[in-house]
Amino acid sequence: MRLPPARGPITEALFGTLEGPPGATPLDAAVAALGADFDNEDTQLALFACYELHYQGFDDVDDRWEWDPELLTLRASLERRFERYLAAVVPHTEGVEPSLVRAALVALTEADEGPPLSLFLQREADLDHFREFVTHRSIYHLKEADPHTWAIPRLSGAPKAALVEIQSDEYGGGRRERMHSELFRTTMRGLGLDDSYGAYLHRVPGVTLAVSNVMSLFGLHRRWRGALLGHLAALEMTSSLPNHRYATGLRRLGIEPAVVRFYDEHVQADAAHEQIAANDMCGQFAAAFPECTGDILYGAACALELERRWAEHVLGHWRRGTDSLLPRRVPA
Ligand SMILES: [Fe+2]
Ligand SMILES: [Fe+2]
Repeated sequence: MRLPPARGPITEALFGTLEGPPGATPLDAAVAALGADFDNEDTQLALFACYELHYQGFDDVDDRWEWDPELLTLRASLERRFERYLAAVVPHTEGVEPSLVRAALVALTEADEGPPLSLFLQREADLDHFREFVTHRSIYHLKEADPHTWAIPRLSGAPKAALVEIQSDEYGGGRRERMHSELFRTTMRGLGLDDSYGAYLHRVPGVTLAVSNVMSLFGLHRRWRGALLGHLAALEMTSSLPNHRYATGLRRLGIEPAVVRFYDEHVQADAAHEQIAANDMCGQFAAAFPECTGDILYGAACALELERRWAEHVLGHWRRGTDSLLPRRVPA
């Protein structure tokens, strides 16, 4: 993956600096461009790029940037704004008795009435809608499970064993062809899309990047480990039914089984994962760290709210007959 085109003064300055080696050009211009707000294309992309240095990185960026103190200072400034943004838009969650965490997660996820995106995909979507949907999702699914893996060394005992059990499935249990990210690549190719990592970063809006950024925020900070577990639990607990609908929609369009398999696999796997995540992972973590139950629920609420905002964006465009992706531009 290469650096995408900038989306404003922060990414203009940041990407310009990242093209050179650490220390060559100061990041002052990117820092100076920071405003108080977070909810826009420029800030989400800047934060996404800072985080990406900890994943596969960029072909045109020196790997030493990952731990450059100036870069980390900029990232921290972006994160403070992102945390304030989340606090403003995500419904507040109170801590509960550790034994009630599972029930509270169930209540949160069952109360979630997102826009009916999965129903649209099941019943009305054409292939172009599916291609658009998969393009948005590629930002996360091509590194599926990676952000939650950051929690493994931060846990011990029962919650660690539970998380590893889930992650082992996500990574295919040692078999490349069963890795969820690989199944997703098959889906992308089957729909005529480029399955290379980050190929569509330049096409996805900030509302899509926010879905990934929140996982990296929680994953890269030990203090947010409770929120990361709650986030994963919310994903698993709201997965089986929508994935069944996506699979049904693709079959309705005559798509071959191998291309649908990513979604079929999640109907099965996540029915099991949701139990492990709520009971063994979050429940056991709450029992060990009762002061973190509010964080667990907050992480779940963040997952649900950012997903809701993303689905509203996509479905809103489709209802108006417009494209939910950014205009086609050639990456710089
Ligand atoms: Fe998965
Ligand atoms: Fe899962």
